[in-house]
Amino acid sequence: MTNQTGLRVRPAGLADARAIAALHADSWRRHYSGAYSDLFLDGDVGADRSQVWTTRLGATDGKAATFVAEDEEALLGFIHVALDDDPAWGSLVDNLHVIYDRKRQRIGRRLMGEAARAVVEHGPGGLYLWVLEQNVNAQAFYEELGARCVERALAAAPRGDPAHLNGMPAKLRYAWPEPAGLLQRQ
Ligand SMILES: CC(C)(COP(=O)(O)OP(=O)(O)OC[C@H]1O[C@@H](n2cnc3c(N)ncnc32)[C@H](O)[C@@H]1OP(=O)(O)O)[C@@H](O)C(=O)NCCC(=O)NCCS
Repeated sequence: MTNQTGLRVRPAGLADARAIAALHADSWRRHYSGAYSDLFLDGDVGADRSQVWTTRLGATDGKAATFVAEDEEALLGFIHVALDDDPAWGSLVDNLHVIYDRKRQRIGRRLMGEAARAVVEHGPGGLYLWVLEQNVNAQAFYEELGARCVERALAAAPRGDPAHLNGMPAKLRYAWPEPAGLLQRQ
């Protein structure tokens, strides 16, 4: 659906894998430095994200939903939701990233709204995500959208490789027990 600013949000397809992976790697380099190791961010992160997104967007099992935001020129952001991920907390927003120089233009809000709509249409259950403890800007964004911080834990290493982390960074769980409420925050 296109709005008056030319922003369009649509389901992602396999043809988007390359552009999503490039945005994902760029965003991790800019925002996850400190928690993720320089060795990983300066090295394998591009190839790693390409592999992840090619696999995800090639899947046809209906267990996930991915949306991209774009204008007529470029990909501006994306969100990926693993449906019914957790029996207690519900569906998981696994990744949400907006292109660096287009932050604070309500693109993240639009993408969260689209994800909430997909979850609500899928069936009952909550919505949750993990955010790095160092990522206070994203925490402010989730709080603005009505999420509550409900748990602190150690961050998981990308691809399960501890060498991809610096030490033992923490992550926070933010939850929306009633994701329909997000639809009112658009
Ligand atoms: C976090 C992110 C997805 C938010 O998307 P966005 O398009 O920049 O945010 P929006 O413009 O939709 O913001 C909606 C509201 O959230 C709040 N908010 C957003 N970013 C904020 C920030 N940096 N500091 C404080 N509040 C913020 C504001 O209330 C904002 O409304 P306002 O701009 O009218 O004040 C985006 O900034 C991003 O990609 N960050 C880098 C990657 C990242 O951290 N992803 C999350 C991983 S868990």
